[in-house]
Amino acid sequence: MHDIIRQLDEKRAAARLGGGQKRIGSQHAKGKLTARERIELLLDPDSFEEWDMFKEHRCVDFGMDKAEKTPGDGVVTGYGTINGRLVFVFSQDFTVFGGSLSETHAEKICKVMDHAMKVGAPVIGLNDSGGARIQEGVASLGGYADVFQRNVMASGVIPQISMIMGPCAGGAVYSPSMTDFIFMVKDSSYMFVTGPEVVKTVTHEDVTAEELGGAITHTSKSGVADLAFENDVEALTMLRRFMNYLPSSNREKPPVQPTNDPAERQDFSLDTLVPDNANKPYDMKELIVKVVDDCDFFELQPDYAKNIIIGLARMDGHPVGIVANQPLVLAGCLDIKSAIKAARFVRFCDAFNIPVVTFVDVPGFMPGTAQEYGGIIKHGAKLLYAYAECTVPKVTVITRKAYGGAYDVMSSKHLRGDVNLAWPSAEIAVMGPKGAVEIIFREEKNDPEKLAQREAEYKSKFANPFVAASRGFIDDVVMPHNTRKRICRSLAMLADKQLDNPWRKHGNIPL
Ligand code: COA
Repeated sequence: MHDIIRQLDEKRAAARLGGGQKRIGSQHAKGKLTARERIELLLDPDSFEEWDMFKEHRCVDFGMDKAEKTPGDGVVTGYGTINGRLVFVFSQDFTVFGGSLSETHAEKICKVMDHAMKVGAPVIGLNDSGGARIQEGVASLGGYADVFQRNVMASGVIPQISMIMGPCAGGAVYSPSMTDFIFMVKDSSYMFVTGPEVVKTVTHEDVTAEELGGAITHTSKSGVADLAFENDVEALTMLRRFMNYLPSSNREKPPVQPTNDPAERQDFSLDTLVPDNANKPYDMKELIVKVVDDCDFFELQPDYAKNIIIGLARMDGHPVGIVANQPLVLAGCLDIKSAIKAARFVRFCDAFNIPVVTFVDVPGFMPGTAQEYGGIIKHGAKLLYAYAECTVPKVTVITRKAYGGAYDVMSSKHLRGDVNLAWPSAEIAVMGPKGAVEIIFREEKNDPEKLAQREAEYKSKFANPFVAASRGFIDDVVMPHNTRKRICRSLAMLADKQLDNPWRKHGNIPL
């Protein structure tokens, strides 16, 4: 018995040391924490229960039978709590064979994913890996696919979050890519399907790993990642905050966080937010921040497709997803990137019972060959589809423009919007007054006086919220200073909303 306890202590000490002090030192020298240090920061103190600490690889090829076996095989797995709520976690240990994924490493990840699915709790992956364990060949590729299959089965059932904290290349990228959110650490993480050397050989492009797949690239150019953090500590602290918005599974509502911010709070500065000149932009983020609880808006993808804003916030303590056109960028037009960005977010909210609040100021879809050749028809339809299939409470506020097809798309009444409100400054029409009269009264194009008169006529008839309100497409015209109050009341009224879509194997969203 005494021997076993000693062995246990030794084995635990060996596992905790991972690839050894020297490699831990070089991990630290790169500004990175170790797999275990990261888990400690992520989870509540003393809440981590580790599994498979003694699991070892079974590879005997390429000298692996002679290589020292590290208990745990390059990934630390288990469960714990974040602010008292259960989460499952795996944290790849770069000090053990570069965190590369062996068959047994994959089995460990699959085990936590299976349990997370059974009990209904999120899975958080802290990725730091040199990819497939090269010595294992196809066994490790099979391991990846086992993880991929679980990512897909868990999608929409439990939240899956990936934090990229080191390399993530080749096939390894496809597990994070199927999770709900990807966060990255600046300067120490990168993701790409093929690395700079292969790129150089195939396309003759000279590009660094950072340029090809660093945190800035993926949060501003590709849209693959949702947020970039300065370092491991900031990343894990923010991840803890982020998890507070999410339910543990699709069977639950998101957690309520009581607030001292009154639901009926008015903000009179909003009455002058929209400029008198309809062509002048204003910052939609100002509205969001002034309306949500405690001015606390957790924005996602802030540097990608900035013409649409997405993120999480709370209204009277209840988490909501916010989607808003941003008049400051491309006048708030919908284009391919913004439609995809918002569509995926709306679907996430819908899957996890998070109500969607939409602020609309949209002059239409972005014109041009780049957009048409890029497939704006198909990609724009994604957002339309996402809103139309969405069954969570949907509250919409039109602040200014809601023109053309984009009016329909942005959580309109016609797509089962539950409460659709408009500010007095709202203009709900097929297009802007100038464009409209130039088309309808083409024969008067050489008579500017007449055109101006027609424009004024069009404006008074359509460039206001009342035509839509008279049809019941807008439930009420509200004063901007009452926006928070009206949204909070609407959401409270909708708290027990029940709506089901017809049974089907799955819909066929235009991909
Ligand atoms: N399989 C097995 N071992 C791996 C590995 C892999 N995929 N990736 C890294 N390692 C090992 C290295 O052999 C090294 O072992 P050592 O500490 O015993 O010397 C250790 O992990 C650290 O790797 P190193 O190359 O020294 O780290 P680095 O920070 O300089 O570079 C990578 C990191 C990921 C860029 C580099 O290791 C790499 O290119 N790995 C291979 C990536 C790959 O092609 N994967 C397979 C396709 S998915």
